[in-house]
This record gives sequence, structure tokens and C-alpha cells, in this order.
Amino acid sequence: MLRRTLLAASRSPALRTAVVTAPVTRRVVRRFVAGDDSERALEAASRLLSDGLLVSLDRLGEDVRDRAGAEATVRAYEKLLPELPGDTEVSVKLTALGQALDEDLALANARRVCAAAARAGTTVTLDMEDHTTVGSTLRVLDALRGEYPWVGAVVQAQLRRAEEYCAGLAYEGSRVRLCKGAYDPPPEVAFTRRSEVDKSYVRCLRTLMAGPGYPMVATHDPRLIEIADALRLIRGRDSGSFEYQMLYGIRPDEQLRLAETGARVRVYVPYGSEWYGYLVRRLAERPANLAFFLRALLTR
Ligand code: FDA
Repeated sequence: MLRRTLLAASRSPALRTAVVTAPVTRRVVRRFVAGDDSERALEAASRLLSDGLLVSLDRLGEDVRDRAGAEATVRAYEKLLPELPGDTEVSVKLTALGQALDEDLALANARRVCAAAARAGTTVTLDMEDHTTVGSTLRVLDALRGEYPWVGAVVQAQLRRAEEYCAGLAYEGSRVRLCKGAYDPPPEVAFTRRSEVDKSYVRCLRTLMAGPGYPMVATHDPRLIEIADALRLIRGRDSGSFEYQMLYGIRPDEQLRLAETGARVRVYVPYGSEWYGYLVRRLAERPANLAFFLRALLTR
């Protein structure tokens, strides 16, 4: 209920202005976002790499409504990609590349990001956003994979069709990030109870771990991490054949612990000034984060 209210409130321009301009917000943002610019993001990436972790950098921004904004996103990724240290890839939101204006524009822009990634010798994963964009995102993914088979997909276990998406994506060379889903889709298309989402996650994990693709297990949930570990043993997968993924600032000790067991662990590192939507999704995920935010407001 709280989650739904927060996600709905996040669309209010007045609330957005109040949150973005509150000086205390910065303190909370710093916990989840590496910094306002690519220099800070690259520093954070280097620190994580030196701890034995892998990185996916995400330039924050979504729901771009004009061509100039989409062009600015492409140029930012084209500038960032040649500078990436070590095993760092990028995550991209198609709505930051103009998906809401025109799918073909988003595809053309995503091609340019992929071409820059190919030149830099790294990969791109397409984040999955609001449920209304899923069909379009899968079409763009399919078109990109013809040329760049390493483009990563995301499946949100909260969607009723998640298992079907996983089955369709579980082929040789396919990189699939499985997450619970951070948006608030209607019950016609999504499971609403946490237990149902978790069960769906496990079914999807089974499919991905049994297939020949490369699963990217994106969760902080200790039970799901244990299940993933059990499934990889059952399937005889070695530690190079899949990876865990977690968000910057969330369960950092667990990220290190898993990496110390020899697992590949990638940290998703967002950066940039357009952090509002991302922050609200992180607050909505966990009441304790909201309490942290409110406490910071009261003790400023
Ligand atoms: P759950 O929310 O049940 O949390 C399990 C435990 O993890 C909590 O008890 C707590 O300990 C810790 N935790 C979780 N969230 C926390 C938070 N915000 N602050 C502090 N602790 C927290 N979603 C999406 O819709 N599209 C996408 O493309 C992506 N991409 C993505 C990439 C990566 C690398 C990750 C890890 C996640 C995403 N997500 C996403 C977000 C995802 O869908 C989901 O909202 C969050 O990961 C939270 O779900 P958990 O699986 O962690 O479980």
C-alpha cells in the first residue's frame, strides 16, 4: 500500500520539486547514487573493481519527451564508454533514448550506444521499465541482438508473463537479468502479493539456470540468493556461467561476501542529476529507507 502510494505520488510535479530542492535529500541520494557526473561514477566503479566486484553504470534519466534529450543521453554514453575501467558495462533505459516519442528513434539511438560499447569491448543491458513499455523493449532488444548478440535483457518476475519471457530468452549467449520489478503494474498483468512475486522469481530462475544462457540474478533477497546458489549446484554451473547483481549502496557487505566465495557479483551504479525517479523507487521498496529519509528531514 505504502509502496503504491509512493510510486503514484512520485508523478506529482509539486512533490518532485519539494523533494529535489530539500537540502537534506542530498544525504539520502548519496547513499544510492554515485554522484552527479561521470567522474564520480568512474571513481565509484574503480573502487568497486578494486574490491573484486564488477560494475554496470547507469546514467540516470528516463521518460525523455524530446529528441534533444534523447540525443544528449546517447552522447553521454558515447563519451562514457571509452573511459570504462575493468569489467564495467552500462545499463540503459530506452525511455531515456526517446522510446516514448518513437520506437524507431529509441532503436536507432540504442544502436549507437551498442556500437560505442562494441568499440570499447563491453556490453549493454536494457533496463526494463513500466509494464506499458515491455513489448516495445523486447522488440528493440530483438532487433539489437541481430547485430549485438550480447545485449542484456531484463525480466521482471512480478509480471504474470515473466516465465514465458524467460523461456523465450533462455538461449545460447543470451544475457538475462532477473529482478522482482520496481514499478507498480496493475493486477491484470502482475502479481500483487510479495509471496507470489517470489514464487514467480524462483520459477524464472529455474528456467534460466536450466538453459544455455547467462543468468544475471539481480536481487538482495537472501532467500532467493540461496535458491540461486542451490540451482547452480544442481545444474552444475561454474561460477563464470552466471552472475549476481545488486544495487549500489544496498547490502554492500553481502556483495563482498558473495564475491569472496568466488561468485561474479556486479554492482549497478547509477549516476547523474536525474535521480528523482530512481530515489523514489528505492524509498518505495523498503519502509526503512523512507524512515531514514524522514529522520534526515527532521534532524537537519
Ligand atoms: P526485496 O525488495 O524483497 O528485498 C530483499 C532485501 O534486500 C530487503 O529485506 C533488504 O534487506 C534489501 N533491500 C532491498 N531493497 C532495498 C532498498 N531499496 N534499500 C535497502 N535495502 C534493500 N527493476 C526493474 O523494474 N527494472 C530493472 O531494469 C531493474 N534493474 C535492476 C538491476 C539490479 C542490478 C538490481 C539489483 C535491481 C534492479 N531492479 C530493476 C530493481 C528490482 O526490481 C527490485 O525493485 C529491487 O531489487 C528490490 O527487490 P529485491 O529483489 O532486492 O527484494
